[in-house]
This record gives sequence, C-alpha cells and structure tokens, in this order.
Amino acid sequence: MRKEDSGSGERRSTLRRTPGRPKVLFVALFERAPDCASVYEVSPRDGLQNERATVPIHDKLRLIEALAQAGLQRIEITSFVSPRWIPQLADADEVAAHAVAPPGVTFSALCPNAVGLKRAKAAGMREVAVFASVSETHNKKNVNKTVEATLAACAQVAGEAQAGGMRVRAYVSTAWGCPYEGDVDVKRVVAIAKKFVEMGCYQVSLGDTIGVGTPRQTERILRAIAGEIASDRIAMHMHDTRGTALANVLVGLEMGIRDFDASVGGLGGCPYAPGAAGNLATEDLVFMLQGMGVKTGIDLERLVEAGRVAESVVGRLLPGKVHQAGVRSLKA
Ligand code: HMG
Ligand code: MG
Repeated sequence: MRKEDSGSGERRSTLRRTPGRPKVLFVALFERAPDCASVYEVSPRDGLQNERATVPIHDKLRLIEALAQAGLQRIEITSFVSPRWIPQLADADEVAAHAVAPPGVTFSALCPNAVGLKRAKAAGMREVAVFASVSETHNKKNVNKTVEATLAACAQVAGEAQAGGMRVRAYVSTAWGCPYEGDVDVKRVVAIAKKFVEMGCYQVSLGDTIGVGTPRQTERILRAIAGEIASDRIAMHMHDTRGTALANVLVGLEMGIRDFDASVGGLGGCPYAPGAAGNLATEDLVFMLQGMGVKTGIDLERLVEAGRVAESVVGRLLPGKVHQAGVRSLKA
C-alpha cells in the first residue's frame, strides 16, 4: 500500500503485480460512502410545476400519499409562488391544507417572498424553502428581481418563518451553469450558499438546474464549499437532463454529502430554464444507494408504485430508468 495522488487529493491505492503482466493500479473507491443518506422528494413541486396541464388536486394528494407510503420522510409538496407565474401550483393553499403528513414525515414548500410566507403559514406549513440563482439572467427570469434583491426577500422570509417556529431550507440554482449565461463563478455559488446559512437556513441545496454538471466540476464546487460550510448543511439537487446526475451524486457521496433531492419517475424541471427537464429520478437514486449499502429508509418497491401513480397523474411515460426497467435484478 502506498499513497498516490489521483489528481483530486490523496487517496489510498494498491499496486499489485501479477508475474508477466503489467502493473495494475487499484484506487480505493467508496471508502467514504456513508451508511445512510437522506432523500428529499421534489416531484409534487419541481415535477408538477413543469407539466403542461394542471393536475387536479385529488391527484396531487394521491401522489403525495404514495410518496409518504414509500418511506420518503421529506417531501416538497407545492410552491407558494405567484399563480400567474406558475399556474400549475395555483392550488398550493388547498394542497397544503389537505395533505396529511404521517408521523415522521415533513412537508416543505417553495416560498419566494412575504406574500408566499403568509399563505404558507395560513395553510399550516412547518417548513418552507427559499431560492436564488447564481446567475443574474436566470434569477431575473425566474423571480423578476436581481440576485441581491432576491436574497433580501429570502432573508425576510427566513427571519419571519424562523420567528414563527418554521424551518427554512434554501436552493442555490444554476450552480453548475446557467441556460442564459453559461458558466458561473464557483465563488459566487459559495457566497450565496453562505448567505443562506447566515440567514439560518438549516440546509442549502445546490441546484444543477439544467443538468449540465460533470463529476470533476462537482468536485470543484464541493471542494470550494467544504472550506466554508459543513457538509451536513449541504444537499445536492441534480437534474438529469444529460444523464450525469448519478455520477455527480457519487462524487458528492465521496465528499461527505448525505442529502440528495430527487423526483419520482424523473418528473420535473424549471419552467424558466429552457432544457431543465428531468430531475434525477428518486428510484434511480435509491436503487444506486441501496445497491451500495447506503440505507435510505425507503421501500424501493413501494417507491416504484409511487412512480406509477406519478405516471398516471400526468398521463405520460416518465423517463426514470428504474421506473421503466423495474427493480427485479435486486431480487435475483
Ligand atoms: P412579480 O410579478 O414581480 O411580483 O413576481 P410582485 O411582487 O410585483 O407582485 C405582483 C402581484 O403578484 C401582486 O398582486 C402580488 O400580491 C402577487 P396584485 O397586487 O397585482 O394583485 N404576488 C403573489 N401572489 C401569490 N403568491 C406569492 C406572490 N408574490 C407576489 N408568493 C414572484 C415575483 C417572485 C412572485 C414571481 O416571479 C414568482 O412567483 N416566481 C416563481 C417562479 C418559480 O416558481 N419558478 C420555479 C421554481 S425555482 C426552480 O425550479 C429551481 C429549483 O428547483 C432548484 C434548481 O433546480 O436549481 C428550486
Ligand atoms: Mg429543480
């Protein structure tokens, strides 16, 4: 055994020589993979906000119930944003008022401003999520404000929500790239994430809004964050638009991240980010985690059932891999 520099910091490696064969280098992988990880389900919000048709409320409630029954303990059920901007979630007040959280399950909802918070409180929400983008153009198109003004609105929401005993989560959108501006500055990702931590947000979810992230880039972002924010306050919110979401999750696992957002069946996207279709599918995430021995507390078979409910609710085939292929190989 000797130390080798893999290009991403020091890692243990094993150099073995078989007589007559070239040297083979075995890098020790997944040594830091955890025993358990937490999944934050976003399909009723990130998924349904992107559907052309508005799903009737009883179908939304059916989906939320199926997700909770599969063992998901954190579910973002809706959005208290402007109904003019996201008509698909105009029924947020009713959804929040009627959705029943079984013991141990926390519901959250997106909330951009004081108007949204007032609605969330009135509907009995105990947790909200604030959000801002790294890039000015996406932010402006998404919430009609500069990033600075958005952070001020988030601080107001976070302060008032926490004073009222609510928990607050946060998203940093376009952290891997912007559909309008392209590459973004990692320093800005860190600075915005730090602002959310200073506001008292219990967790900051880094969003690859348009699914352009690749593993080395993920390493760079997480390395930059690591010196500033404890890894247990960071989550990853990957869209799988280009098929790299799980590869990025794997990097996150190796670098101490334990919280991952996902959407059943791969439902989802951001309507103000062209090409943002396809959140990482919860079934794909859980399949990989369980296969690696990382416990999630989620029943994969029941999760696949929840994916069927999602499919029937939106009336179209969903893109998730496990959703389409099933989990039979796990039983073999
Ligand atoms: P605005 O038009 O600039 O709002 O929108 P305003 O403050 O000027 O107010 C205009 C009117 O809207 C007023 O009503 C307000 O009361 C009302 P009027 O006086 O004209 O009758 N209003 C509201 N009504 C209900 N609920 C509210 C609310 N706020 C104002 N909360 C606003 C600004 C932020 C409201 C708007 O741009 C908006 O709702 N944007 C949300 C867009 C959105 O939801 N995008 C998708 C979510 S983000 C995402 O998907 C990324 C993520 O998944 C992470 C990732 O992938 O990276 C989170
Ligand atoms: Mg998203």
